[in-house]
Amino acid sequence: MEDYTVSIDGLHGRKIVLGVSGGIAAYKAAELTRALGRMGADVHVALTEAGERFVSALTFHALSGNRVWTSPWDERMENGMPHIALGRGVDAIVVAPATADLIARLANGLADDLLATLCLARDCPLLLAPAMNRQMWENPATQRNVARLRADGVIFLGPEEGEQACGETGPGRMLEPGALCEALVAFFTPKRLAGRKVVMTAGPTFEAIDPVRGITNASSGKMGYAVATACARAGAEVVLVSGPVAVPTPAGVRRIEAASALRMRDEVLSALPGADVFIAVAAVADYRPAETVGHKLKKSGAAMRLELVPNPDILAEVAARPDAPFCVGFAAESHDLDAYAEGKRRAKRLPMLVGNLLADGLCGDDNTVVIYDDEGRHPLPRAPKAFVARQIVEHLARLLPTAAG
Ligand code: C5P
Repeated sequence: MEDYTVSIDGLHGRKIVLGVSGGIAAYKAAELTRALGRMGADVHVALTEAGERFVSALTFHALSGNRVWTSPWDERMENGMPHIALGRGVDAIVVAPATADLIARLANGLADDLLATLCLARDCPLLLAPAMNRQMWENPATQRNVARLRADGVIFLGPEEGEQACGETGPGRMLEPGALCEALVAFFTPKRLAGRKVVMTAGPTFEAIDPVRGITNASSGKMGYAVATACARAGAEVVLVSGPVAVPTPAGVRRIEAASALRMRDEVLSALPGADVFIAVAAVADYRPAETVGHKLKKSGAAMRLELVPNPDILAEVAARPDAPFCVGFAAESHDLDAYAEGKRRAKRLPMLVGNLLADGLCGDDNTVVIYDDEGRHPLPRAPKAFVARQIVEHLARLLPTAAG
């Protein structure tokens, strides 16, 4: 089962009509229905006759908790017109899978079944997740239909390349349910950072003592990755310089691995040209061994001394540049949060710093933070890191100078 937790905040209060047409990828639509529901969406499924041959209406009914619609002649809808009523008050119609046949019918404005009629009569965005054999996808007729629908403002999610049910390999695979959920959340997120470049750090650093040992900090990377996800969803170009973590790279984010503080500094400096924002979430080790031994140290049983030298402060260095982007710091403190966090913000000359008490979340899924800026302190309620990240991004977007660069 895929992990949808990063997107947990995404679709609350959204009403979505999920159209399912007749392709083998319809089995993934069942999982998609469940995933959308978990993310808070109210899902209403419209099945084509061919779709119903692959997955029954009963399955979608059980997974969505809503009745499933298959026929324009269905009299269960109060006014007897499901093709109109079902599409009203809806935030989006998503068709997954969208077959070559359905795409062709939509491109020509046909209304020969309930789903096609719903799409024609809609007053909301239409998003299609194509799924078909690669030759059907590459056929000029399909490409013509896709281009026509794009010109009409229809949004395509995928397809991706890969192994196909027919045994061939190529473009035409439907996006996985997790990727479709992520694309939908991104679609609904206001593009407050459109046209902005964000450079970030996240995770711990690892300062090697010898080839197998090192000094590191406790940091899961979850908060930083949630901030990177929120920035990407808000339309930013995101470069994430990351220490060693076990978190997948968020969609639309360029991730650069940098284990040590020195490496992280170099990667940040080379990613910096053109950046509007720098966000330092990484728990950078303050010290590193004065030298890294090339071979594995042998234990002797005697006490051992390790000489440590200070690491550069990446954030302070970036913030001190004459061409500094808008800099956001993070500070995790064990006590006296206000005094230490505001002290760090001033010392590093940052317009914005996000502080939290260690007891309130380091490696967990929730966090309680306070944002500090020139206007004072702004406490946020305890929430999953994805929610917190979105609020941090909204706060930063408000403070960001309007002229880019
Ligand atoms: O370690 P400290 O509490 O000073 O960290 C505050 C902020 O400075 C964090 O945003 C952290 O990512 C950044 N920092 C850094 N390089 C360091 C130490 C901290 O960029 N060497």
